[in-house]
Amino acid sequence: MMSEVIHIAASPIHGRGGFASARLAAGTRVIEYVGERITKAESARRCEAENWFIFGLDDEFDLDGNVEWNAARFLNHSCEPNCEAVFEEGRVWIVALREIESGEEVTFNYGYDLENYREHRCHCGARSCAGYIVAAELLPHLRRNS
Ligand SMILES: C[S@@+](CC[C@H](N)C(=O)[O-])C[C@H]1O[C@@H](n2cnc3c(N)ncnc32)[C@H](O)[C@@H]1O
Ligand SMILES: [Zn+2]
Repeated sequence: MMSEVIHIAASPIHGRGGFASARLAAGTRVIEYVGERITKAESARRCEAENWFIFGLDDEFDLDGNVEWNAARFLNHSCEPNCEAVFEEGRVWIVALREIESGEEVTFNYGYDLENYREHRCHCGARSCAGYIVAAELLPHLRRNS
């Protein structure tokens, strides 16, 4: 289901992205990241096939967001994101980390690990951009070793 608080449009970061349709307060659940619930085995197969839309849900299941009913799949990554992915009772929400202006692009950190990180260049445009799409907690490691 399309979120009422964002719309999809061309993004300066990459392709299309999600943009706030109104001012959003910090803590707003901007959109639910929905998708197909799949087993770990199926998830491993899809990751091997370079599906980048998969979230780990729990010890048994993952969520493949690469489905047309998941508008959140258009959200781009940023090294200085205005949202974060929050896991709650088996569901994934994209939640505002701060107030977001109407028209501002909605981003979150994809949380990618360092495997093949050089294949994922980041064009988020943030002052602190790491140059690659990696999880926030790995950025210091990346900066030390690049
Ligand atoms: C979930 S899609 C996001 C929607 C995408 N912009 C589109 O138009 O389909 C993820 C892909 O978008 C691109 N992307 C997202 N954030 C990016 C960033 N900060 N820098 C460069 N490419 C990015 C990468 O190609 C990534 O694999
Ligand atoms: Zn960046």
